[in-house]
Amino acid sequence: MTNAVTVYVPRDSAARAVGADEVAAALQAECARRGLALDLVRNSSRGLFWLETLVEVRTPRGRIAYGLVAPEDVPALLDAGLLEGGAHPLCHGPVEQIPYLARQQRLTFARMGVTDPVSLADYEAHEGFAGLRAAVALAPEAIAQAVFDSGLRGRGGAAFPTGIKWKTVASAEADQKYVVCNADEGDSGTYSDRMTMEGDPYMLIEGMTIAALAVGATRGYVYIRSEYPDAVATMGEAVRRATAAGFLGDDVLASGRAFHLEVRKAAGAYVCGEETAMLESLEGKRGVVRAKPPLPAIEGLFGKPTVINNVISFASVPLILARGAAFYRDFGMGRSRGTLPIQLAGNVKYGGLVEMAFGVTLRELLYDFGGGSASGRPIKAVQVGGPLGAYLPESQWDLPLDYEAYAAVGAVVGHGGIVVHDDTADLAQLARYAMEFCAIESCGKCTPCRIGSTRGVEVIDRIVAPPNPRYNRPQQVQLLRDLCDTMLHGSLCAMGGMTPYPVLSALDHYPQDFGLATPDRRAA
Ligand SMILES: Cc1cc2nc3c(=O)[nH]c(=O)nc-3n(C[C@H](O)[C@H](O)[C@H](O)COP(=O)(O)O)c2cc1C
Ligand code: SF4
Repeated sequence: MTNAVTVYVPRDSAARAVGADEVAAALQAECARRGLALDLVRNSSRGLFWLETLVEVRTPRGRIAYGLVAPEDVPALLDAGLLEGGAHPLCHGPVEQIPYLARQQRLTFARMGVTDPVSLADYEAHEGFAGLRAAVALAPEAIAQAVFDSGLRGRGGAAFPTGIKWKTVASAEADQKYVVCNADEGDSGTYSDRMTMEGDPYMLIEGMTIAALAVGATRGYVYIRSEYPDAVATMGEAVRRATAAGFLGDDVLASGRAFHLEVRKAAGAYVCGEETAMLESLEGKRGVVRAKPPLPAIEGLFGKPTVINNVISFASVPLILARGAAFYRDFGMGRSRGTLPIQLAGNVKYGGLVEMAFGVTLRELLYDFGGGSASGRPIKAVQVGGPLGAYLPESQWDLPLDYEAYAAVGAVVGHGGIVVHDDTADLAQLARYAMEFCAIESCGKCTPCRIGSTRGVEVIDRIVAPPNPRYNRPQQVQLLRDLCDTMLHGSLCAMGGMTPYPVLSALDHYPQDFGLATPDRRAA
């Protein structure tokens, strides 16, 4: 279309949930009615969810952003010269100068919002497949070494060095090896995996293909959370297109090496995100956790050596191969290298995705990006790292985001999900919820988790109940601590093993919510 103005409206499901499809339809209808030539591109979301629906218009001054656009705003926006980037109360100027975006360090999410997610041409025009092209020219050991040298650690939760995992699979002898992407993303307040699959699916395909070349795998699966129908559809479409174009299939980039990738819809249980339960589920069985050893790297899917990584771990790899390990490693602090796409959620004014190098503090995230609570009330507690992560009180908000610094205070970075609670939150009820969640989601294989979580709910109920001569509150608190100790050390996997994190952090930092007058610490 000549002289058509390019306008971008996100196709991300978070944008669609607040009316992006209706905004796109209104734009098309109103432009047609006025005889204006429009080239509508459904791009990925920038991750500034507080501004969705975020409409961008390509102009000689760059892309101009209009935020919180509703379908009924479209006529007035066109009257104000939307197609030329004209002034309007909803206009935020050049999108890349919006402080929320300008302050970020976007490496993995650099293309997010910029491209049409399923366009291979758009992907390649923005550094896409540069990492795979570099990898094809390298020996398999050199690929795994580059990932090791980058310092990348697993973004799914356990922060295990990705390069070591790949080297283990590479050195295992087998007639068949697999690469599996864990896209079950069940943590509260997280959406970076979903955004990647819906918004930049070739980045994940590229990362998984690089892994396959490094370890000698010829088949791969993306295990996607069943509640993510858009991600399932977009990934499926991207796999088909990438296969047809020779980036996947029998002869990846004419390298003589094969990699076949398939999308699988997950079983709809939180525990199926635990890697061995995920393997069981992929094999068509009930999602029950396997005992380790053997490690999946040695005996994984169908008993064969398997690389299992989170979406963001794989998505971080193309850039490492394209720009070199040192480029990535230069971001971050200590043993936490690179960047993390942090997800702000819960009671926060400006919820959205913030990619920053490790070292950023929670206070910066909560206030410089998040703008404080959405309710306007003081923030009381922040849960970091999903439903099994600790609650951090204000005294810990200046800690740098770093795996070791968090571990030192009994917290976890996990998948980078941050859920904010204001001063109306009752931390005893949130602790109870953690135990209840574990009781509901437990796979039932081991006793500390299966039985302990149910007993945990009962003990917390007794602690917070009105005084009762049958129960001595300090004794019940001790019982809860002993139970947490058993779950921490006796559970087969992190489901039961980490449920004590939210419970103990709530008890330690918010004793008043449990009806305890003074901090009740084990060390005291
Ligand atoms: C109960 C439970 C749920 C989990 N859910 C996920 C998940 O949804 N996505 C994920 O990547 N890892 C999840 N994990 C962690 C995985 O077991 C595993 O460590 C991870 O997929 C490895 O990839 P990474 O090294 O790239 O992080 C979960 C772990 C547990 C115990
Ligand atoms: S800790 Fe819970 S989820 Fe994990 S194996 Fe034991 S029962 Fe299953």
